Amino acid sequence: MVYLKEDEQRMLEGEQGPGVQKAMELLVKVADAYGAERMIDITQAYIGRFALPIVSEMVNGAKFKVPTSCTPLVLDPQRTQEFGLPETVIKEEQRLLSQRLEMYQRMGLIIPSYTCVPHFVYDLRKGEHVAFTETNVGILTNSWFGAMTNLEGTSTSMASAITGKTPEYGFHLPENRYGRVLIEVAPELEPETFDYADYVALATWTGTMLFDRIAVYSGLSRNMRPGHAKYLCASQIYRSGAGMFHVVGVTPEAPTLETACGGRKPEQRFVFGKKERESVYEEFCSATDTKVDTVIIGCPHCTLDEIWKIAQLLNGRKVSKGVRLWIGVGQNTEVLADRMGLVDIIEDAGGRVFADMCIRRPVLPPLGETLGVRVVATTSGSTAQNVYRRGKEGGTGTTAWFGSTKDCIDAAVKGKWRDK
Ligand code: F3S
Repeated sequence: MVYLKEDEQRMLEGEQGPGVQKAMELLVKVADAYGAERMIDITQAYIGRFALPIVSEMVNGAKFKVPTSCTPLVLDPQRTQEFGLPETVIKEEQRLLSQRLEMYQRMGLIIPSYTCVPHFVYDLRKGEHVAFTETNVGILTNSWFGAMTNLEGTSTSMASAITGKTPEYGFHLPENRYGRVLIEVAPELEPETFDYADYVALATWTGTMLFDRIAVYSGLSRNMRPGHAKYLCASQIYRSGAGMFHVVGVTPEAPTLETACGGRKPEQRFVFGKKERESVYEEFCSATDTKVDTVIIGCPHCTLDEIWKIAQLLNGRKVSKGVRLWIGVGQNTEVLADRMGLVDIIEDAGGRVFADMCIRRPVLPPLGETLGVRVVATTSGSTAQNVYRRGKEGGTGTTAWFGSTKDCIDAAVKGKWRDK
């Protein structure tokens, strides 16, 4: 049974109210299930939506004990009208939005930012313990920043935000953070020139080899940016349960291969070459019709380097009539991109930069169906797959092209996907 300190015991006994008590009860159950010996303090939390009944019980009168930010909203609150949705749908979306925002505000210490890359809103440092939900967010936290989180669920991240505690197990213990599988990126691929989508291909392909083992990538560019790492995270989890990775010479726990693996030899070694990369691009392109009606970039939300690249590619060009180019960002990035003139470049060209909303949601049914989305182009592998799967399930027949940022921007300008 997990050992509780005096303050933790008092929370469990209900001294701080029923919400905190419920939260501590849940954390104790998790600790016992995973054999955690004690609770540890966290410095921040990232929570999801409040749909589960247990979360509503915890929210009952409780306040956040640590700075907490949240997953993206359903639509950009400032620009709901711009989607061209029927008035009834807009009203319902606005009702849900205000319900969620009011609840967060009531709980104090909320960082009013709703992005799937919260790492750039409130600083993170190596060795810091946090409780973050959303798998891609958790992986980036562990891998790129060296901060420590398990891949928390909606209820456990909320319980941690309310108590300021998490059970010490999994990625909170250094011995569980060593790499086990070596992935060598073939030099013939020229990793220095990799687009964001190449990182998607690499991580998707790698995910099938990992199960829950941690990958150590070697041969990637030392100039890799957070935007690249973000796509590695979002895609690796698509095919595996691995909660972090290392990049030799780049990520904080991998100055060398030996350090990344804790002094042991990797259990397996794989080479990612041309054939492997092409297989993912082919798999994710479900479209046959080259006429594109919607281009989305920013799942997960674009980092500043990505917005910069999009603006460079668009500068002086116009998005084709009838094509939607939607870019998803966190509000913090949008403010900077705006001050740098990048938002103006994108919007003058006919694109739209939406802040703090889940940019994938409007292309999936039911919103996508209402908007007449048929063929999507994207740099996000999971979006390309979801568009196809949901289109098939829902009978809308929506399909997707997956490719580099340049391919996607060219598609937005020409209204057409490139020839093979
Ligand atoms: Fe973010 Fe929505 Fe994609 S939350 S990661 S834009 S599915």
